Amino acid sequence: MSDNQVVLKVEDLTTHFFTREGVVKAVNGVNLTLKRGRVVGMVGESGSGKSITALSILRLVPYPGRIVRGSISLNGRDVMALEGEDLRRMRGREVSIIFQDPTSGLNPVIPIGAQVAELLTAHLPLSRREAARQATAILAQVGLPDPDRVASQYPFQLSGGMCQRVMIGIATALNPSVLIADEPTSALDVTVQAQILQQLRNMKRDYQTAILLITHDMGVIAQMADEVAVMYAGSVVEYGDVREVFRSPTHPYTWALLNALPRLDAYDQELRTIPGAPPNPINLPDECPFIPRCNKARTVCRTSPRPLLAECGPNHWVACYNPVIHEW
Ligand SMILES: Nc1ncnc2c1ncn2[C@@H]1O[C@H](COP(=O)(O)OP(=O)(O)O)[C@@H](O)[C@H]1O
Ligand SMILES: [Mg+2]
Repeated sequence: MSDNQVVLKVEDLTTHFFTREGVVKAVNGVNLTLKRGRVVGMVGESGSGKSITALSILRLVPYPGRIVRGSISLNGRDVMALEGEDLRRMRGREVSIIFQDPTSGLNPVIPIGAQVAELLTAHLPLSRREAARQATAILAQVGLPDPDRVASQYPFQLSGGMCQRVMIGIATALNPSVLIADEPTSALDVTVQAQILQQLRNMKRDYQTAILLITHDMGVIAQMADEVAVMYAGSVVEYGDVREVFRSPTHPYTWALLNALPRLDAYDQELRTIPGAPPNPINLPDECPFIPRCNKARTVCRTSPRPLLAECGPNHWVACYNPVIHEW
C-alpha cells in the first residue's frame, strides 16, 4: 500500500509521568502507522501503556504526564506543534476517541440528541434545527432503534451498549480519518460486544476510517485487526500483519499471550495468566524489561540495551535478541 494512504504516523513516542515517587515511564519509544481503512489492534496487559499512547496521540496526557520525545503526524500535520484552538479542532474532526466506559464521555444532564447536536454546531456552521436533524440521523446510523426517542433521552435511560453506540456516533460524526477505540467493548456483555465491533467494521467499510483498536483480548484482535502491535512495558515488542503474527508469534511475550488460556477463576478478562508480573514503570531496567518472565533470555539479553523492533518476516517486526519463530 502506498505511503499516501498513511493518515497517522507516530514515531519514538515517549510519555512519562513526573510524580513525587519518581518518573513513571508509561510509554517508551512507540512507533505506529495507521492507514486509511485499516485497523491496527493494540494488545497488552493492564499498565502496558496502551491508554497513555492513545491519549498522547490526542495530546490529552493528564498532569503530571508529559510527552518527552517523539513525533506525531496526522494527515501530514505535526500534532506536537498544534496548540489551543487548532488542537481542539483536530480532535473530533481528524481524530477521535471512544473509551471503555461509554458514559464517561456523556453529560448526564443533557439529552442525547442535544449532546450530538452541540458537537456538530461547535465544528460546523449549522442552524439548531439542522444540527438536531443531523444528530438524529447519526443516532440512526449507529444502529440505535427509534432515534427520535433516543435523542430526547438522558444517558441514564440507555443501556451501556446503547451509550457506546452514541459515543461511536459522536466520535465519528465529523468523519475523522482516525478513530481510536480504547477497550470499547470491555464493559459490555458478549452479544453487545459483537454489535459494537460490527459498528466499527461498518465505519471502516463505509468511510475508510483508520482505526486504532486497543484491547486486552486476542480474540478481538483476530476478528478485527489487519495489523497488531503487542505492547509490553510501554513499548511495542512485536508488530505486523495479524495473520503473520498469529501464525508465527516471535516475541516470547506474544507467544505467551497466545498460549494463555482463560482461567476459570479470573475475576476479570485481563491477561493475568502469564507467570510473573510486568516491571514497575518507575524502575524500568535499561535492558529488555521482559527478562524476568522470559524462558528464552540469554547473556546477550542481560548485557545489551532494550532491543528495538527489527524485521523478522514479511510485514513482521520483533524486539528481541533471541526471537523464536513458532509455527503452529
Ligand atoms: N495520571 C497518572 N499518573 C501516574 N502514572 C500514570 C497515570 N496514568 C497512567 N499512569 C501509569 O502509566 C502506565 C501506563 O498506563 P496505561 O496506558 O493506562 O496502561 P494500559 O492502558 O495499557 O492498561 C501505568 O504504569 C500507569 O500506572
Ligand atoms: Mg487502558
